[in-house]
Amino acid sequence: MEAADDRTKAIRRRYNRTALYYDWMDWLFPASLRRRVIAQAMGKVLEVGVGTGANLPHYPPGGEVVAIDFSPAMLAKAREKASGARVPVQLLEMDVQNMSFPDASFDTVVATCVFCSVPDPVKGLKEVRRVCRPGGRVILLEHVRSENPVAGAIMDVINPVCASLIGDNINRRTVANVQAAGLRLIEVQDVFARIVKLIVAAPQ
Ligand SMILES: C[S@@+](CC[C@H](N)C(=O)[O-])C[C@H]1O[C@@H](n2cnc3c(N)ncnc32)[C@H](O)[C@@H]1O
Repeated sequence: MEAADDRTKAIRRRYNRTALYYDWMDWLFPASLRRRVIAQAMGKVLEVGVGTGANLPHYPPGGEVVAIDFSPAMLAKAREKASGARVPVQLLEMDVQNMSFPDASFDTVVATCVFCSVPDPVKGLKEVRRVCRPGGRVILLEHVRSENPVAGAIMDVINPVCASLIGDNINRRTVANVQAAGLRLIEVQDVFARIVKLIVAAPQ
């Protein structure tokens, strides 16, 4: 338990540092892709790991968004983008592995490039399942470990460097983690080179 807490604190510290330059290196997910993903979010939305708020301008009017992140420095940047959003946005400092929302609070839960860095991704995804209402949707855009054995093995070797520099694991098996968390897969789309995937799931 203590080791898990230490890991969470270390990753949070890394993102507090990364917040300074995060927007400059945010080339993996262009605005057109973010728009396509966010267009699927309906009703009362929870965005977890909102980061600097890159998705916030893409929510269409009519809904409402609660967005969490465990890094105060990332949230400070998100606050600037929230003021230009077309929906009401509430930003909260919270760990996705331990959320304070009641069960079934949201129609849609969104995460983009988050479960690569959550220290215990299955625990975080179980929390996502808990707070998403029955019949709701979980929409994830994530980079994952390559299914190619050679590329996957290379990712395993260089992962410790990426993880320690920016807190991001490049070799997560996120589709399997979604299933391990008890979410039901509805759709998995390859968005880029079978490494970036759009995953749509439901609480059951
Ligand atoms: C790679 S950034 C992605 C940010 C944003 N979603 C985007 O698409 O640009 C990962 C974000 O997840 C947040 N994060 C990682 N683990 C978290 C956790 N356990 N609880 C809440 N936020 C977390 C980090 O602080 C960071 O802001």
